Amino acid sequence: MKESISILISEEAIRKRVAEMADKINHDYNNERLTLVCALKGAIIFMADLSRKLNAFVDFDFISASSYGDSASPSGKVQIVKDMELNAEDRHILLIEDILDTGNTIKTLRRHILSKNPASLKVCSLLDKPERRMVAGIEADYTGFTIPDKFVVGYGLDYAQRYRNLPYIGVLNIGEE
Ligand code: IMP
Ligand code: MG
Repeated sequence: MKESISILISEEAIRKRVAEMADKINHDYNNERLTLVCALKGAIIFMADLSRKLNAFVDFDFISASSYGDSASPSGKVQIVKDMELNAEDRHILLIEDILDTGNTIKTLRRHILSKNPASLKVCSLLDKPERRMVAGIEADYTGFTIPDKFVVGYGLDYAQRYRNLPYIGVLNIGEE
């Protein structure tokens, strides 16, 4: 199988959109201290870039849910494999995701974090693939780009753990040799 990648969202377009998202978050939270919870591993590059544009005091934490294994198709089952380390109670939490796809991951993470009684919880996802949604009513509070139903890699997103370090987002094409 031969893999190739076509650029969908350029480095420059990502940089511009991330700055716009940060402006909106700065405005909405009005310098309130914020806890960014990164959904590992796909959201780390997005969180690193977004956080550097935020004005308020920001805490970092990490959470990890497994849904896909190493394949490009969803299993539907989501497990929390690494929990937050900070005490979420009374914090304003912004959950940072790479992509909202079927919605199973965000549904599970939201419910899990809400059970810790944060002061507030919002979801910020770089990408959204609404055509793939299986869970009704799951949306992000902040969305970077709405994309078609294509498997994408780069800027944190992987295929079998590869391509996370691409500076742009590309569509992965897998063809016969
Ligand atoms: P959901 O639970 O189906 O919404 O899936 C969310 C997770 O699936 C994301 O956090 C990604 O890790 C992974 N995922 C979904 N679509 C893609 C894609 O196009 N490329 C890479 N990973 C994806
Ligand atoms: Mg992910």
